[in-house]
Formats: sequence, structure tokens, C-alpha cells
Amino acid sequence: MIKLILATTLLAGWCAVAAADPQTIVPGAIWPDDRGQHVQAHGGGIIKRGDTYYWFGEDRGQTNDWHLRYVACYASQDLAHWTFRHQVVQARDPAKLGRGWILERPKVYYNVPTKKYVMYAHIDDRRYKVASVAIFTCDTIDGDYHYLKYFQPLGQQSRDIGQFLDDDGTAYLIFEDRPNGFHIARLSADYLDVEKDMCLIPQHMEGGAVFHLHGCYYVIGSHLTGWDPNPNLYATAPALTGPWSEFRDLAPPELNTYGSQSTLALKIEGTQATNVIFMGDIWKPDTQWDSRYLWMPLHIDGPTISLPPPAKWTLDVKTGVVSE
Ligand code: GAL
Repeated sequence: MIKLILATTLLAGWCAVAAADPQTIVPGAIWPDDRGQHVQAHGGGIIKRGDTYYWFGEDRGQTNDWHLRYVACYASQDLAHWTFRHQVVQARDPAKLGRGWILERPKVYYNVPTKKYVMYAHIDDRRYKVASVAIFTCDTIDGDYHYLKYFQPLGQQSRDIGQFLDDDGTAYLIFEDRPNGFHIARLSADYLDVEKDMCLIPQHMEGGAVFHLHGCYYVIGSHLTGWDPNPNLYATAPALTGPWSEFRDLAPPELNTYGSQSTLALKIEGTQATNVIFMGDIWKPDTQWDSRYLWMPLHIDGPTISLPPPAKWTLDVKTGVVSE
């Protein structure tokens, strides 16, 4: 009996620890939102307003109408627990691209002068020949975003896009221009246009993610292998304009980035530590709704970074401290 009481007490204690450990992120697992449904924010981006993070991404929910394309928005204050807010885009081929049209990798920016939320997304026809970006705007962060236009940024092809907000607030779009390479380009003052190329890296990469830490810029990207994972690479530079270093492996190449593909590098600056989270997608092309997320804090040693093997970890967004 004493043993049973002891075991029960220990178990209760362990459960309390588990329950008091709420910030745990488990790479590759089903990630339930507040409704208990797997988060649908694939190829996503995150912005912070006040003390809340908003995660936008492709909503590939199984019950969606397959004629439409959806972007979902979730909110969180700890990056681990996500509350579903709204399907902020439910679009029915607004650019008239025909059956099988594509809307991927949505990224939302907040424009201070116009007080508008501006969403960029890769828009394409089913053969990926249109290679353009679409813009949708909204007055509130999680309202209905309205389609504005589509175009090729700086007159160049654009497939996968990425989002980068520098420490001074300047907003950039990263885009893959198949014949030429990888652009990091500054948005116009109202964010409704892509204004200036900071660099064209003559490397064929997609899933672009950029971050800036201690005066060094880091760019991460994947090879062009569609839904299949490949060894993601990174390079560094003292400025966005370069010069960029050679590209190096982010993880042991034979492990193909642990089955994931980069989408965003999210910097968390806390009161005690600064960490950068690699956000990647583990795509499941035949069951897209079940695609998973691989989020891990990068190991950063000056200009050398690496993605550690996926394992559950916790983050305190206030202090910035990560426990693995
Ligand atoms: C990937 C790309 C995804 C999607 C996919 C389609 O390379 O990163 O966003 O476009 O190809 O095959």
C-alpha cells in the first residue's frame, strides 16, 4: 500500500512537472491548436505585434474546398500554444490562373505609415509558369485579406518567397528567380511593391530565410527538389549587399535537414538570451494537411551555424532562454 501511495505521489509529481512545462515544442509531431486540430500554417511566416506572435501559412485542411486556396492565422504568446484566429484568405482564383492554381508561402508585414497588413504570397498556375507574387491587404491582423494584384518583383520570376524584417524595421522579400538566383529585395514605403534588390546571390535556392545577429547576416535556403527534403545550406555576409560567403551545410548532408525545408528564421531577443529558431516544413505531398513542422533553435557560433538533431525543447520568450 505504501508502495502504491509512493508510486501515485511520484506519478502525480511527474504529471505536475509535465503540466508545468507548457512551452515544449516537439519537432515533427502533430501540433494541436486550441481546438485540438493540427496547425495549418505550412510554408509560413510569423510577425509579432505587442506581446503576441501571429503565424500565417498555407491552410491545407482536408475539408477545404479544393477550388479555393486558404491562408490561416494563429496567435500565441509563447510560440508553443497556438489559438486559431481565422482563415484570413479564402480565395477563388483571383488572378484567373486557371484550374490547379497555386498560392504558397504567405508572409504578412505590418506597414506603419498606412496602418495596413500586407500579405505577400507566391502565386502561380499549375505548371509554375506565372512565377509571381500576389498581394493581399487587410486593416486588421486577422481579418479577411483582400486581393490587390499580382506581379513579378523587379520584373523577375519569383517562386518560393521568404520574409525578413531587419532590426531597424526595414522589410525585405526573399524570392527565387529560377534563371538567375536568389534575391533579397527591399519593399517600397507602403509595402505594395518590391523596390530594390539588395543582392542577387547566384545560387539556385528556395525556402529562403534570413536573419541578422551581431552585425552578421545569415541566409538559409534549400535546393530545388520540390517536396522532397535536401541538405539545406547557409551563407553569411557583413551586409545584405554582401559579399556572401560560400554556402555550407546546415546539418549533416546525408540527413537532408532531418526531412525538413526552411521557411523562416525567427529571432527571439529575451532579457537573458537571444536565440534564432529555424522553422522548417516536413512536407507530406500526398497528405498535405498532415505536413509537420520542424522548429529548432539554431546553434550559432559566430559565422558558423548548425541545425541540431530534432528533439523536444522549451523556450521562455521573455528571457529568450532555450532548454533542450
Ligand atoms: C517546393 C517549394 C514548395 C512547393 C513545392 C511544390 O520546392 O518549396 O513551396 O512549391 O516545391 O513542388
